Amino acid sequence: MNIKVLKKSILDIDADVIAVNLTEGTKTLTGVTEIVDKAYDNIISKFIIKKEKFEGKYGSIFELPLVESGKRLLIIGLGKPSELTYVKLRDLIAKVARVCNANKNAKKIVSALHGADIKGFCPEQCAQMITEGIISGLYSFDKYKSDKKDKNIKEFIMVETDVKAFKKAEIGAERGVIIAKNLNMARDLINESSQYLYPETLADFAIENSGVKTTVFNKARIKKMGMNAFLAVGQGSVHEPKLIHMEYKPAKAKKKIAIVGKGITFDAGGLDLKPPTSMLTMRDDMAGAAAVIATMKAISEIKPNIEVHAIIAACENMPSGSAYKPGDVIISKTGRTIEIDNTDAEGRVTLADALAYAEEIGVDEIIDIATLTGACVVALGTVASGIMGNNDKKIKDFIEVASQAGERFWQLPMFEEYGDTLRSDIADTKNTGGRMGGASAAGIFLSKFIKKTPWIHLDIAGTAFVDKPTSEGIKNATGIGIRSLIKYITE
Ligand code: BES
Ligand code: MG
Ligand code: ZN
Repeated sequence: MNIKVLKKSILDIDADVIAVNLTEGTKTLTGVTEIVDKAYDNIISKFIIKKEKFEGKYGSIFELPLVESGKRLLIIGLGKPSELTYVKLRDLIAKVARVCNANKNAKKIVSALHGADIKGFCPEQCAQMITEGIISGLYSFDKYKSDKKDKNIKEFIMVETDVKAFKKAEIGAERGVIIAKNLNMARDLINESSQYLYPETLADFAIENSGVKTTVFNKARIKKMGMNAFLAVGQGSVHEPKLIHMEYKPAKAKKKIAIVGKGITFDAGGLDLKPPTSMLTMRDDMAGAAAVIATMKAISEIKPNIEVHAIIAACENMPSGSAYKPGDVIISKTGRTIEIDNTDAEGRVTLADALAYAEEIGVDEIIDIATLTGACVVALGTVASGIMGNNDKKIKDFIEVASQAGERFWQLPMFEEYGDTLRSDIADTKNTGGRMGGASAAGIFLSKFIKKTPWIHLDIAGTAFVDKPTSEGIKNATGIGIRSLIKYITE
């Protein structure tokens, strides 16, 4: 789809759909809505508002064919200006995109820069959110459907006649395309069947699509690096584990950051096998890995002045004759020994080595993103992701940035006592000690493998893959974390 901003009047563009908006409580029409109203015999003020009583409530959409021209007019209710947010704007436009796309004649849409004339809203952000809403809202995973439907919308044009606002909108739209396109790429990767997506194919995907230098280490190399914890988790699978390292290195970087994504391409639980209902969606256990690949690709396009490393310890957690066993003791990369209490708490075991590897690079900050614990799902549901770490200031900063990107993170405690259950009689630590306070215990476990680098841990177990549509209308893989990571790193 072609998305652009033009410095033209909405009336000068030939399109199948004209999309304007109405805020709740508006007495007299202004801006683009007024222009369209005047051009079409006051159809909005006299008919849609007066006669049809369209009030512009948030989320309401009024559709009307313009008989003479053969076009369709769409009035989008933005609700009360004081209640509108950028994220609500994006969710609403996602809905508009689906409404338009349902009509096969809606190939070309010309649209107002919705929200931009509301006090406190900036045209750049509005353009970005509208763009994200269109591209991300139309996402569907139909790779394995025989009756694949092409998207009907081919062109989406926003108009802005003010020079300054136009320039800003252009920048916003460009950013929106980068974010949404890569978000959708990650969704495809997460939704992909684990039959086809295993460590090797994940690594190939990263090489082809991360947009940055990507090095893949095989089993022998991983062994040489002493990453026995990572190897232990993967040893029950017929698929060889791969360590994936992506690097973005601008010439004079002002800081260095590492992002680490959990990359379990399928989590059967291992010998502590999961029950069927819990196992069903475990192809999503590499959503963290997908998030860091998509983030790298976006970074390669946005080009911030920050060095970024992305690391994925990719493997499959399977039961088999060669699988790691409960009671096994493993010597991790840091030398710290781990007694396996439960083979299904595998993510943290792989991350232990991946985090140690990240710290060895010598970065100023490490962020891991992982579908880590069912306990986090119990605590926060699908509404928010968990966040922990060893640096309160960075955690707070991340939560703030994420909320601007429309993603909710909620800090979970890391009280020392949560680590009590991890005490082992035979090793330095167990990998788990039961279900209670499980998200925090996992956080404490991870913290033991980082010596001194400021670190943030994101637990996206509840938000990465959902069975009811999100506010943006997305089912299954959501791509959670990507928007926050991109914003946190690049702004
Ligand atoms: N991948 C799961 C966590 C998960 C649960 C992700 C639900 C997405 C949705 C993780 O590897 C796991 O199995 N964790 C166990 C740990 C337990 C054995 C301590 C869990 O949470 O049940
Ligand atoms: Mg597991
Ligand atoms: Zn897992």
